[in-house]
Amino acid sequence: MRKKVTVVGAGQVGATTAQRLFERGYADVVLVDIVEGLPQGKALDMLESGPVVGSDASIIGANSYDQTASSDVVVITSGIARRPGMSRDDLLFTNMNIIAGVTAQVVKHSPDSIIIVVTNPLDAMCHVALETSGFPRERVIGQSGVLDTARFRTFLSSELKVSKRDIQAYVLGGHGDTMVPLVGYTTVGGVPVANLVPKARLDQIVQRTRDGGGEIVNLLKTGSAYYAPSAGVAEMVDSIILDQKRVLPCAIYLQGEYGLRDLFVGVPAKLGASGLEQVVQLKLSDEEAAMLKKSAAAVQELVDVMHKKKAAD
Ligand code: NAI
Ligand code: 2OP
Repeated sequence: MRKKVTVVGAGQVGATTAQRLFERGYADVVLVDIVEGLPQGKALDMLESGPVVGSDASIIGANSYDQTASSDVVVITSGIARRPGMSRDDLLFTNMNIIAGVTAQVVKHSPDSIIIVVTNPLDAMCHVALETSGFPRERVIGQSGVLDTARFRTFLSSELKVSKRDIQAYVLGGHGDTMVPLVGYTTVGGVPVANLVPKARLDQIVQRTRDGGGEIVNLLKTGSAYYAPSAGVAEMVDSIILDQKRVLPCAIYLQGEYGLRDLFVGVPAKLGASGLEQVVQLKLSDEEAAMLKKSAAAVQELVDVMHKKKAAD
């Protein structure tokens, strides 16, 4: 029997993720949204692409969770997205209520699932999913680092005119302005990037990576990125469903690793059939460690705001 993946939110990121997963063919997909007809219409359209793209998987759309029962992985993309002039943090209160409601349904129908959170502000929404679900940290993981790292690799590839596949990099920290591209661990065909790109230019590329989400928002004007984000999610789902044990940068609830505790922060993580299988500890330079600490403080600030709001409600 095929594995089962539910994608909650049939908007730009959710529908594109569902499409990527359906086309892989290894799992049946359920697409859920509150808008009547939207997930059903998109799922049927994707199903009808099956003969052409060569997928025999099933994909259905739904406005409730009955058909999501016993999913192996649930990807949560439901919520509002950024528009020009908005930061990811402006989405906080609206999306925290949406994620809490969705997570409660996920727990009820798929108590053994692994949740991948995508909704922004990402790290704070991971906290909501973890706290609402009561799942162990191994089964609540956030997507951001794969996307941020893909942007960094893309910009370096254009700069150096080298295949993106030969650029190894990590972007750690929270999914926000304080994210931490690890220049010291970035190599091109094994050569440290700092030997290939002058520091001033490298600094510009790092900054463009940090601003990568905003760059797309400013171009699109009505929403945020979804092709690269959905590719990042699909890579994480591959590693879990196919037990690939890839080491990918993911938002993980840290328990002392990198000197941080009880906080979701982006770090390299091994993903396999049981979800998070290991947090990979990299030795950071003093500067990188300080940047990660600053990024974690920004996540903590949002989590504190959210907890205060929850206590006041
Ligand atoms: P979108 O507006 O296209 O889609 C969101 C969908 O969620 C809509 O179809 C809406 O009807 C649905 N929705 C709202 N409340 C719901 C509920 N309670 N249950 C089920 N569905 C519900 O937005 P888009 O572009 O797909 O982005 C989704 C989220 O993902 C945003 O918060 C965005 O900021 C975030 N995002 C995060 C990224 C990351 O790297 N972590 C990358 C890109 C987007
Ligand atoms: C991005 O980085 C919106 O978080 C999303 O594109």
